[in-house]
Amino acid sequence: MKKQEQHQPVFLDEVIQYLAINPQGIYVDATFGRGGHSRSLLQKLGSHGRLLVIDKDPAAIASAQQLAVQDLRVEVHDGSFTCIAAVIKEKEIKEKINGILFDLGVSSPQLDQAERGFSFLRDGPLDMRMDPRSGISAAEWIQTVREEDMVRIFKEYGEERYAKRIARAIAHLRNETSITTTKQLADIVSEAHPHWEKHKHPATRVFQAIRIWINNEFGELTMALKQSLEGLAVGGRLAVISFHSLEDRIVKQFIREQACEPNALKCLPMTTPAHFQPRLKVLTRGIKADAQKIDENPRCRSAVLRVAEKIR
Ligand SMILES: C[S@@+](CC[C@H](N)C(=O)[O-])C[C@H]1O[C@@H](n2cnc3c(N)ncnc32)[C@H](O)[C@@H]1O
Repeated sequence: MKKQEQHQPVFLDEVIQYLAINPQGIYVDATFGRGGHSRSLLQKLGSHGRLLVIDKDPAAIASAQQLAVQDLRVEVHDGSFTCIAAVIKEKEIKEKINGILFDLGVSSPQLDQAERGFSFLRDGPLDMRMDPRSGISAAEWIQTVREEDMVRIFKEYGEERYAKRIARAIAHLRNETSITTTKQLADIVSEAHPHWEKHKHPATRVFQAIRIWINNEFGELTMALKQSLEGLAVGGRLAVISFHSLEDRIVKQFIREQACEPNALKCLPMTTPAHFQPRLKVLTRGIKADAQKIDENPRCRSAVLRVAEKIR
């Protein structure tokens, strides 16, 4: 694999350990990427085990298809993981899945290949779609979004303090010229940004916010978590690696609600229906990488791993 094609998986050992692989089991890697987790999982699976892999990025799917040719235990589904319920139905594996993994966010090849338009460090077309076959590109969004919506999205999804100022600059410039490249956008944001942080490109937060919005990352995650629970067998495990505090909050809240923990909003004593029974048991409360891990793989810096087991 060329360097630009590689992705170093995070929490590889921990994921395999917590999934407690049943060699004859059925597993789902909902975010195949370049298959780092899938390959480790396959090493633990026996000849009758099955691994269903999903990704909405055509380049990731091409890589998954190569793996499936070499390994008949692998089945590939091209599309968003929000179709997990449909796939489960089609394959007749409802409540039969032993483990589901979500390793969220972008892969290194998506960031490293300028033509995908995710990176403020590499000039390319301003695209940012994980699935370039659907939805609108970041360039189309920038050209048409209302200024107040831009402010909201930069604030909410990028936690950008200077959202207003940056949105103003973009709105002003897009009247003069179309903003179609990553460099153009990175330059506009850098110029408008009054407070550059050490070791952080000033456009980091804005790029992150646009990417999350364009790909409906939080909406799709919320849908897929619910569907996954229906697919898991009792004793099956759900492992999620997230890279953004809001993303982690969605995962944490979902697990807490299903585990009926006291501080989950829907499970407060006053609102809990008498018949509600927990469906998940928390196995880990958010593992973070230590300094050594971050040194070995800087992608670990913001990663959080949560794992829960289906009990009902
Ligand atoms: C961090 S990478 C996964 C890396 C993978 N675990 C590995 O070891 O190579 C995230 C992958 O999830 C995919 N992805 C993100 N959101 C998705 C969604 N809603 N549906 C399907 N795939 C998605 C991205 O296209 C990307 O390939």
